[in-house]
Amino acid sequence: MENSSNPDPEANLLAYNRAAWDAQVRTNNEWTVPVSAEEIQRAREGIWSIVLTPHRSVPRDWFPDFSAESCRVLCLAGSGGQQAPLLAAAGANVTVFDLSEEQLKQDQLVAERDGLTIRCVQGDMSDLSCFEDESFDLIVHPCSNTFVPNVLPVWQEAARVLCRGGHLIAGFTKPVFYIFDQQRIENSELIVKHSIPYSELTSIAPSEKASLIAEQEPLCFGHSLGDQIGGQLAAGLRIIDYYEDHWDAYPIGKYIADMAATRAIKS
Ligand SMILES: C[S@@+](CC[C@H](N)C(=O)[O-])C[C@H]1O[C@@H](n2cnc3c(N)ncnc32)[C@H](O)[C@@H]1O
Repeated sequence: MENSSNPDPEANLLAYNRAAWDAQVRTNNEWTVPVSAEEIQRAREGIWSIVLTPHRSVPRDWFPDFSAESCRVLCLAGSGGQQAPLLAAAGANVTVFDLSEEQLKQDQLVAERDGLTIRCVQGDMSDLSCFEDESFDLIVHPCSNTFVPNVLPVWQEAARVLCRGGHLIAGFTKPVFYIFDQQRIENSELIVKHSIPYSELTSIAPSEKASLIAEQEPLCFGHSLGDQIGGQLAAGLRIIDYYEDHWDAYPIGKYIADMAATRAIKS
């Protein structure tokens, strides 16, 4: 049943996930809480770090020296007032692109509060047609592609808008995260239930899906490593570095690194 605040995900997944992320902002999900004015001030002084995965900071040598060279950065599906304002304060020329208007407002809020310039654009990460070919030097993509059913167009579009020699740094959820019964995980039980690719539209029981929808939870998709890593290679990107992280909010992270980040170059 569709209404304007809780659209039917079967009919319009984008509208549903947009409304769900707007709702996450209202309930202070940790990925929607903007950085402080003090953090922005420190970033202006050269002291900053960002994450693409829950905990580990991105190695500083994955970034150019923003104060020494001009760098057009796209924060792809990365709003929430976190990465984009820090990178802008560090000296990058930042565009943030996201589906959720409320998430983008968090970046605008920090920009206005702290006198930063950030271009905010609303849309779907699978379609970057609002950007010209080769219009960014660096794409920063936090763990967001779990919200699209097919990640391959995201890599294709990222590669298209990246200039030659530009880098895509991307966090993602490893497929192992999604093979377990997601409801039992809440009781710390790891019961293998799902195959990959995993989809909260088609893999789970109607009652489980109904409760996610009732709670306005964004719907997730678990992609294979073939799609996460092979998809970047197929898009013409060469992976040159990699690290892993543990999301200790969930029991799987106690046994295996369930999150990862890649650094790729368009040659
Ligand atoms: C986990 S948050 C990531 C941002 C956060 N600053 C971080 O550090 O991870 C996921 C983001 O993906 C966005 N998103 C979900 N589906 C999207 C889509 N199809 N296109 C663009 N953005 C999308 C959400 O609105 C949300 O801001």
